[in-house]
Amino acid sequence: MGIQLKNASQIAKLREANLVVADVLDILEGVAKPGLTTWELNEIAAHRLKQLKAESAFLGYHDYPAVLCTSVNQVVVHGIPRKDVVLKDGDLLSIDFGAFKDGWCGDSARTLPMGKVSPAAQALVDATRESLERAIAACVVGNRLGDIGSAVQSHVEPLGYSVVQQFVGHGIGRRMHEEPNVPNFGVKGRGLRLSEGLVVAIEPMINAGGAEVFVEEDGWTAVTKDGSLSAHFEHSVAITRNGPLVLSRP
Ligand code: MF3
Ligand code: CO
Repeated sequence: MGIQLKNASQIAKLREANLVVADVLDILEGVAKPGLTTWELNEIAAHRLKQLKAESAFLGYHDYPAVLCTSVNQVVVHGIPRKDVVLKDGDLLSIDFGAFKDGWCGDSARTLPMGKVSPAAQALVDATRESLERAIAACVVGNRLGDIGSAVQSHVEPLGYSVVQQFVGHGIGRRMHEEPNVPNFGVKGRGLRLSEGLVVAIEPMINAGGAEVFVEEDGWTAVTKDGSLSAHFEHSVAITRNGPLVLSRP
């Protein structure tokens, strides 16, 4: 396939898809609280998606069974919403959501503290969110892919956290996963040159402990090997001549 650069009207379509994603994430952020199940969140998302006349990017993707990924505490990504997972005070809940609108895909994720979380958990969330902001700031024409990964890595590693390497961000467009892979690690000045019209989903997954991840028997749920907490933020970002355009920012 190769890398598919997007023109302004295609980026406008991607913006619409990502506004659907942001709308749903905003609703979920408003309602997610201790006592709810992750399955209830999935139902709320599916209902809103229908109202917005959009389709899930996740449901049925390699047989994935839900519209959301809900990853709690030591779950890094791809947690499957369940009726028996009841959110509790102090949990870190990562919600990942993707949608198609008019044939274009949006993809974004946020980690939300449930009730009152420990200072250590809050610090991990803040560092992960900030690492994504720094990666977005590196999305400038002429920079390189390594500048994005390095922005994440150089922010979180000095704080004692680890960057998950087993999963990476991706190009996004008419398909959820396009070239190139967008790792959350790398060397400044190395790798693919970022050009105008490249659209990427950047999604740092940061562990409080070691980087190693283990995928459970369901084939999806990715957990930290050492049981440490993990956080995840994702934005879809267009690289334009005027700098980074965060398509999934409401
Ligand atoms: N944001 C994730 C990704 O880009 C979510 C995919 S979950 C899946 O890979 F269920 F669709 F696989
Ligand atoms: Co993604």
